[in-house]
Formats: sequence, structure tokens, C-alpha cells
Amino acid sequence: MAEEQMDLVAGRSGMPKVPSVLEGVKTAADWQARRRRILGYLEEEMYGRIPPRPERMSFSVDWEKPVFDGLGICRQVNMRFGVKDRELELKALWYLPAKGDRVPCVCALNFCGNAGTSFDPDIYQPASEADKERGWQVRRWSYQYLLEQGISCLTAARNDFFPDSEAGRYGSVFRLFHKEAELTPEHREYTAISAWAWGYSRLLDLALTDPRIDERRVWVHGHSRLGKTALWVGAHDLRFAGVVSNDSGCCGASIERDHHANAENLERITRTFHRWFVAKFDQWVNRADEMPFDMNWLVSLTAPRPVLIASASEDVWADPFNEFRCAKQVGEVYRLFGAHGLPDDAQFPAPNEAVIGDRVAYELREGKHDVTPRDWEVLVEFMKSLEKQAK
Ligand code: GCU
Repeated sequence: MAEEQMDLVAGRSGMPKVPSVLEGVKTAADWQARRRRILGYLEEEMYGRIPPRPERMSFSVDWEKPVFDGLGICRQVNMRFGVKDRELELKALWYLPAKGDRVPCVCALNFCGNAGTSFDPDIYQPASEADKERGWQVRRWSYQYLLEQGISCLTAARNDFFPDSEAGRYGSVFRLFHKEAELTPEHREYTAISAWAWGYSRLLDLALTDPRIDERRVWVHGHSRLGKTALWVGAHDLRFAGVVSNDSGCCGASIERDHHANAENLERITRTFHRWFVAKFDQWVNRADEMPFDMNWLVSLTAPRPVLIASASEDVWADPFNEFRCAKQVGEVYRLFGAHGLPDDAQFPAPNEAVIGDRVAYELREGKHDVTPRDWEVLVEFMKSLEKQAK
């Protein structure tokens, strides 16, 4: 650990420098043009374009009921999207606190299907998930705790927006916009990460239909591949008030240059997950040091809105130390806006410590690649610190 501290401060000799995002930028006004260019660049070179809003959207409540002894309500909402004669239909699950007028909301896609996030037998479980037990990932979903904190939480299954396989385009949101012949695995311009990003924006559309949600406090939260996606959609959809990237690692919040020897790298990620990135991105395999950008570029696009980067101490694959490096680096953009990012003297924390800075926070949770109650507690701590600063 001591050696890593030194690396961060002094730099390893010969360590490739992380490209600053600020080239030619001196003021917050300059940043806006630079920001647009970076967004366009990452679209072309890495994540592809997020599809547009659909022509038609409708939301209808399947059921609604009190939960956790009246602490809140839970509703299941049927979401329908249409473009020309094509339709996509899926379910969202929405927890709202019983009290409070203008409450914050966290939009978080899930890996496990809505029925995997709770034991509630009323939650729709598609036939494709019938072999999974209800509530099998319940430990990741602190619904009750969030309601106790007066926070709403809205989820839907990532596979409903892009089934996570190479043939996934056929069943993805891209089928609303493209003919079947354009949905083959060769069409890498239509990426899963951009399809999931679209899904997050639709959850936000839904959140904003309820006047009890404070439209200035809707956050996007994602774990791992969805942590990469949370950063990507947060960069595009400025209605999101804050971003949580949990264990997002390679191509998420982790600096690619000089990564941990056992961490994921571009070669491993692009070989396994073709569908996540446009084909052009493969050019950087084994050449990360030559990339004109690094992942601080992606995370910087959240600024000046708050961002929480969460790592787990045993999650070497996602490279916690390089996620921390990234959290430190993005302070350069927050400073244009009079915020500070992480404190200048912030050091890589010990497991189960968090560094809550000025609009940027970093958490190192003890344990494995996962989302645990502790991660939700740190998010709430960060949200509270932001509210105190705002007063
Ligand atoms: C794999 C992948 C990671 C990804 C993770 C996940 O481990 O290599 O890049 O973040 O899956 O989404 O769980």
C-alpha cells in the first residue's frame, strides 16, 4: 500500500501520464465546448451512440401496495415504447417513501431481473428467469434502508434493453430503430452500453411522472458493467443530478494506463465483450499508453454534478487503486466550477473508509465485487454532505 501511495503522489518513473482533459480549457465556459467534443469522440471511438427518445412512451401502474410496515409503497409499472409499428414493453419496479413531498430518487438497472431484487411474490418474473429463485440478489438492494432515508429507488432489468450476449441486438432497444438485418453481431456500432444507457434515461422519464420526486435530485446508479453505463448516461443525460459508479473498473472509472497486473485490460475486455464497444475501440488493444484519452475523460463529463466512485478492496479485476487515481484526477474539472473534488492530500483509503470530497467521493469497501448495504450507506452519507454544503 505504501508503495502505491508514493506512485500516486510522485508517479512511477516512466509511468505514462494520464492525459489531462483540460487541453485548451481555462474556464468553465471553455469547458462546455471541450465537453461536447469529448462526448462526440467517446461516442465514435468507444461506446457508440445512445438511441434517441422513442416516438411513443406510456407508463401504466400494474399494482401498488404498502411495503415494510407502511414505510413506503412499491409499485410495478408497465413501460411501453414505440417507434413506427415497433414496440418494446417491460416492467419497472419502483419504491417510494410513504412520507415526503420532494424526495430524491435513485435509478438503478439490475442484472437479476426485478424479481431477483426482492422476495415479493407479486413482482413479475418472466419465463426466461423462471429457473432463478426470487430474491436471489436481494442483498444488493437496500430498498428498506433507502426508504428509511426518504429516498425513492427505481429499477428495471438491463436485459430488457439489451440481452447481454453477442446476439443481444435482436432483442434490444435497437430493434425499435433498425431493421433486423442491421442487428447482427457485426453491427458493433449499436452497443449494449448505449442501449442500457437509453434504458436509464427511460427510468428517469418515468421518475419524473410523479410530482413527489424532486427532479433536481434524481441519481443514476450502476454496478460493474452498469457502472460503466451509469457514467456514460450521466455524461449524456444532464437531467441526472449525480452519478454512482460502483466497481465499474476497466472502461469505467479505472484509469487504463499503468493498471494493476491482475486487473482487466483492453485486450481482455474487448475479446470477451464485443457487444459493449464499437469496433474501432479494438485499435487500442495493447496500446493503451498511446490512447489520446483515458477514463478520467469519461468521469469528467459528470462535472460539475456530484460523482461517487466506489471500489471493493478484493476487486483487483476492477483495479481499485486506479479508480482512486481517476477520482483524484477529475478534480481538475470540478475546480473550474469552484468545487474542489477530492482533497489535495487525500490518500488511497483503508478498506471500509470513504473520502467524501467536494462533489467527488471515493469509497473503498472491504470485500469482493458486489453491491452491499455499506455501499448504499456511503451514497447516503455523500448525498447528505452535498445537502449540507448547499445550505
Ligand atoms: C466482467 C467484466 C467487467 C465487468 C463485470 C461485470 O468481470 O470483465 O468489465 O465490469 O463483468 O459487469 O460484472
